[in-house]
Amino acid sequence: MTQDELKQAVARAAADYVAANVPAGSIVGVGTGSTANFFIDELAKVKDRIAATVASSEATKKRLEGHGIKVLDLNDVSRMPVYVDGADEITAKLEMIKGGGGALTREKIVAAVADKFVCVCDQSKLVGTMGKFPLPVEVIPMARAYVARELEKLGGQPKLRAGFVTDNGNLILDVHGLAITDPAGLETTLNQIVGVVTNGLFARRGADVLLLATPDGVRTMTR
Ligand code: A5P
Repeated sequence: MTQDELKQAVARAAADYVAANVPAGSIVGVGTGSTANFFIDELAKVKDRIAATVASSEATKKRLEGHGIKVLDLNDVSRMPVYVDGADEITAKLEMIKGGGGALTREKIVAAVADKFVCVCDQSKLVGTMGKFPLPVEVIPMARAYVARELEKLGGQPKLRAGFVTDNGNLILDVHGLAITDPAGLETTLNQIVGVVTNGLFARRGADVLLLATPDGVRTMTR
């Protein structure tokens, strides 16, 4: 199976999960990225079962609306049973690195409102120790150089994501060379650096369910 076929299979499983586990008329949070895009296309097939969605990026909003799916402002939503999104790396404890697509801040905010985070990945994303994938850190533009020096003190090698501006008007530093043995601790430490908006570690609030696509089928893992 190709990687796209695996993403397609897990996206279908996630749409089935939503149809089976979420009360009819619910609001669904939707992530960003290539796997999330496959999910959006599958969600369109069961869109009559949900009331609306909340998007984690402008790109996701556009794709949802292209399918005729209603997208709400998060400020108008107080309850969301589920948020579905991909990850760049995930551990067996369902801690993740996210933000390869640069949408980490909005993803973390929408996920915070949801009762359950359902992560959809192909098997290449499951790792023992995170950090091979460079950790994205969203920074306020004027703090870029200061934050980069602080990240170096923590042992990372930050690289500015060239030509990229987030939906929030900020920059991304991709931090290479970290072996992340304490994801929740590092997530907190990075949040203390002045000028950091969000970091791509989703460990304090990891996923609740992982739907993992393998050539033998979609495996379900829970925390
Ligand atoms: C977007 O900012 C990311 O967090 C994505 O969810 C993550 O990078 C996974 O993307 P793919 O499904 O494209 O690998």
